[in-house]
Amino acid sequence: MVGRRDGSLMREKGQSFCGSRVTVAIAMGILLCCVSVLELLYPNGLFSSDPPPWLQKFWRTDRQTDSSSCKSQERANALKQGQDNAPKQFPVLGQQHKAGPFGTVKGLRTNPTVLPDESVNPRLAKLLKEIAIGKELIVALANSKVKDMLEVWFTSIRKVGIPNYLVVALDDEIAEFCKLNEVPMYKRDPDQGIDSIGKTGGSIAVSGLKFRILREFLQMGYSVLLSDVDIVYLQNPFDHIYRDSDVESMTDGHDNQTAYGYDDVFDDPVMGWSRHIYTVRIWVYNSGFFYIRPTIPSIELLDRVAGRLSEKPYLWDQAVFNEELFFPSHPGYEGLHAAKRTMDYYLFMNSKVLFKEVRKDDAKLSQLKPVIIHVNYHPDKLPRMKAIVDFYVNGKKDALQPFPDGT
Ligand SMILES: *[C@@H]1O[C@H](CO)[C@@H](O)[C@H](O)[C@H]1NC(C)=O
Repeated sequence: MVGRRDGSLMREKGQSFCGSRVTVAIAMGILLCCVSVLELLYPNGLFSSDPPPWLQKFWRTDRQTDSSSCKSQERANALKQGQDNAPKQFPVLGQQHKAGPFGTVKGLRTNPTVLPDESVNPRLAKLLKEIAIGKELIVALANSKVKDMLEVWFTSIRKVGIPNYLVVALDDEIAEFCKLNEVPMYKRDPDQGIDSIGKTGGSIAVSGLKFRILREFLQMGYSVLLSDVDIVYLQNPFDHIYRDSDVESMTDGHDNQTAYGYDDVFDDPVMGWSRHIYTVRIWVYNSGFFYIRPTIPSIELLDRVAGRLSEKPYLWDQAVFNEELFFPSHPGYEGLHAAKRTMDYYLFMNSKVLFKEVRKDDAKLSQLKPVIIHVNYHPDKLPRMKAIVDFYVNGKKDALQPFPDGT
């Protein structure tokens, strides 16, 4: 039940905030590290039919199994598969190597890109050849509901002098608006089925569509910096991207710990000697601004997210995106093998960091120029975007003052 309630809560938020990647630090409590302590805590086993309450939220989302006998069979199969997989991967990964001395070994961090296949969308391929630089570009999806924000968005991009960006127009009005303003625009073919979602859909439906559209860009060998339109550009983001991971994303976090990960100690006093349990936490990646390389794990991620969202449209795309990225393989579930990087939260700044912290630090932080600012934490997006432009571009020192920290 917990899962279901959360699902509808997220949907309500998505609708009322009109496309916002709302805040709520759904900090993902990932996993308790120490299995033996877990066993102490949950004597029936972690995978009994009654997960502990804190786990139920995630547990209920997608992966319930029926009877325990069926479950143990699945576990056995999964185990078998796991044992078979490694040898099969050797030809893919190439030669075997001996491990070097202490301190010299490094895992493969950057996955190879796919062989570009332009046949998936020749019209888009032609457009991308003209627009992309170094096979990468900024992509935003927009319908006429976000027209005003889109205008601030592309005006800021032009001001910085970024040529490689593209708007995927989801309705005729926004397509016309882009043409009128000479904004690089791509309109999908009407026969591409899922287009009615883009025209009539709320933010949630558009979110699912986003991952399907992105796939074509990746299949054709392009890296995409996916961008919501409630974002102001102050520098060229391509000068600040590392390109060493499958997914490089801005964070909803607000300090070193919440953005980059920390050890959150859970206390269970009745356990006495073992009352402190160490957990690994990180604030979610923001699925409204991420750089994704054209690799197999990246495309698998898009497919997983789009697949789950089409089965359960009430899920919040950002929650699904993070679950797929971070949950490890476990019995009955195979995790994604994708490399991740969290962007610098002062350079790729969310609006909580700006309004709660940065704008108040006249001496230091407010002197720094971020690369982008995403108004993800606030529903009054347009006025805040304009104030950000006034502050950082037009030099109006008091432009950010009228707004409250939160809502
Ligand atoms: C956060 O991390 C950065 C980079 O590692 C470091 O320079 C900075 O001092 C840290 N900030 C705090 C408050 O610990």
